[in-house]
Amino acid sequence: MNSNQTIDRRQFLKGTAIIGASLATAPGLLAADSPAASFPSGKIRVGEIGCGSVSGSYLPNLTSQPFIEVVSVCDIKIERAKQRAEKFKVPNVYPNIDEMLAGVPFDLLVNTTSMPSHYPVNKKALEARRHVWSEKPMALDVPHAKELMDLATKNGVHIWVAPTCVTSPQFKFMADTMASGKIGKVTAGHGTYGHGGPGWSGWFYQNGGGSLYDLGVYNVTTFTGLLGPVKEVVGMTAILNTTRKVEDLGEVKVEADENTMLIMNHGNGVLSHVQTGFVYFDGERLAGEARQLYTIDVTGTKGTMHMQGWDWGPGGVDIASQGDAVLETFCKDPGKYNWVGGATYVAESLLSGKPSLMTPEHGLHVLEVMNACHESQRTGRRISVETSFKWPLFA
Ligand SMILES: NC(=O)c1ccc[n+]([C@@H]2O[C@H](COP(=O)([O-])OP(=O)(O)OC[C@H]3O[C@@H](n4cnc5c(N)ncnc54)[C@H](O)[C@@H]3O)[C@@H](O)[C@H]2O)c1
Repeated sequence: MNSNQTIDRRQFLKGTAIIGASLATAPGLLAADSPAASFPSGKIRVGEIGCGSVSGSYLPNLTSQPFIEVVSVCDIKIERAKQRAEKFKVPNVYPNIDEMLAGVPFDLLVNTTSMPSHYPVNKKALEARRHVWSEKPMALDVPHAKELMDLATKNGVHIWVAPTCVTSPQFKFMADTMASGKIGKVTAGHGTYGHGGPGWSGWFYQNGGGSLYDLGVYNVTTFTGLLGPVKEVVGMTAILNTTRKVEDLGEVKVEADENTMLIMNHGNGVLSHVQTGFVYFDGERLAGEARQLYTIDVTGTKGTMHMQGWDWGPGGVDIASQGDAVLETFCKDPGKYNWVGGATYVAESLLSGKPSLMTPEHGLHVLEVMNACHESQRTGRRISVETSFKWPLFA
């Protein structure tokens, strides 16, 4: 733990203590001298909201942790919540966030609703002094995201946002390799993530959805995490289909980006770009199952690094460098890393007090970069980025 992180933690605990009196009645959030003291059962009580596709991957992970108790699930489509509750033996089911917050107490809200619902749901949870793990993005625009972060600070709770890719061993290996100087001065990055587009929910194609928020966000998080905060952005986006057919809404008008190219200037001459889309060949599974495709490339003056597989589920890192210009594979072991393990990771962080590698400041920055891409498309101009975050992550 470095000194900045120690200060952050102390400030958090101080903040928690200051508001302790007003929190005395808030479940699981008693004034605390130590992180674990805030959670008398030694477990983090979780309520998950949004019981669609991804909840089917989150719940097995959450319910298999000895230090987590999933107490409630919620969905405006109540049948979905009931099905998840039955399958994963969750005792309480709610039809909306208000009833969930007023119901059985919990400490951490896990928000896996559709992206346009993230901000209003996160806001209500923070107002009720619950910690929040949100699927990406935490809100659709920077002012709303900042409002959530301020609200969390004011109420002595935390908000964290997916994705989790900076917590993979392969991400750390790449960051450490860069810091070691093995590939010289890093100059450029290339990332790609796309498929044929989700077929289950219409919101992915409507305003507030899109391939950049849903898929490109992983690469943007990886490159800002590896190469540093972005100073300016140039982007282009395209819509190729007037309408798409989806399971929940039938035919929907496509309003959000289906095909996106984003160029990022990280300063000091370091450039990266991300391509992402819902209009990519869907059959190619090599990046996923066999981990044979590279999706993240980092180039330096003395070597190159290539991440095998997707950055949310990497399979290893191949490196070639001066004096040894043949690709060799390193870091194949995923360790404890799990792409749906973000809420579990932050629950551990709440119990131990250990700072999280994923920070809301980084999530805010990624959001601003993505929105700068859309603004660049709208205006035809390159867009400056104002926000930043503590970098390098492993300093
Ligand atoms: N599906 C995946 O494989 C996947 C993977 C990684 C991340 N994600 C992210 O997870 C989130 C959810 O994606 P999904 O594919 O599960 O979507 P989905 O459409 O399958 O499920 C979203 C669920 O949220 C519910 N919901 C929406 N607004 C609500 C509200 N205000 N209150 C309560 N319930 C509400 C919907 O009824 C729906 O059941 C998105 O941010 C997505 O980017 C999804």
